[in-house]
Amino acid sequence: MNGVLRERVVVLTGATGGLGHAFAKRLTEAGCRLFLTGRHADPLALMSHALPGSAWLAADLTAPDACETIMAEAERRFGQVDVLINNAGIFPVGPFVESDPEVYETCFAVNVRAPIRLSRLALPGMVARGWGRLIHIGSSSAYAGFRNTALYCASKHALLGFSRSLHDELRESGVRSICLSPGSLQTPMGRQVPGQDFSTFIDPDDVAEYLVFLLSASGNMVSEEVRLNRVVIR
Ligand SMILES: NC(=O)c1ccc[n+]([C@@H]2O[C@H](COP(=O)([O-])OP(=O)(O)OC[C@H]3O[C@@H](n4cnc5c(N)ncnc54)[C@H](OP(=O)(O)O)[C@@H]3O)[C@@H](O)[C@H]2O)c1
Repeated sequence: MNGVLRERVVVLTGATGGLGHAFAKRLTEAGCRLFLTGRHADPLALMSHALPGSAWLAADLTAPDACETIMAEAERRFGQVDVLINNAGIFPVGPFVESDPEVYETCFAVNVRAPIRLSRLALPGMVARGWGRLIHIGSSSAYAGFRNTALYCASKHALLGFSRSLHDELRESGVRSICLSPGSLQTPMGRQVPGQDFSTFIDPDDVAEYLVFLLSASGNMVSEEVRLNRVVIR
């Protein structure tokens, strides 16, 4: 790689999940300094121990001030934030007509409200320095509707719309907003995908390798959104 990522400070939400683990490993190898977040302290501490130069904070993104706390702590530890990866997500499954209103609140709090709030907090510094990357982890569900996952699909469509708008608004600022949308993944969340063959799902490490490539691009060209799909669908 071209060294663009060396010493960059990355805030990674959902670090303790399947995709988060793969991102953390590849980004550390690329020379980034990671600020890891998830809900639970023990797995974060364990992860951070294995990732040189990283720091962590346990925070529930549904809590009112979680985003402010995360960004303040990341800036206190590292001085600034260069890359924000909005990766945390939840995947409620079931018929919409039977869904509890609470599930809507939680799904949108984690999948939409937190990425928007974290972006708002990260952006002023990035714009002032003329370099920054916002990566929003979308899904194939950002582009299509699927039965029994209406709330998830709606939340990922919202995230894609947000990222597209920021991309347009920021395009001359040196800050890029990119929605990276994988298909089904071999992660704990992937195990909840109904009626599909898990062995055909994408290896999260392949997505992580692609992410490093995407973040490293530094020419006079920009990817505003990327869709990564598995080869075999069954
Ligand atoms: N798996 C798939 O098939 C698939 C396909 C396309 C896109 N995606 C997207 O990829 C991203 C990562 O998914 P994954 O497969 O890695 O899922 P995962 O293994 O279930 O991990 C989800 C992560 O989100 C965190 N999280 C959930 N609720 C949270 C909350 N209230 N506050 C803070 N953190 C919270 C979890 O933290 P804790 O572990 O601490 O609870 C965990 O680190 C998600 O945005 C997902 O929508 C997944």
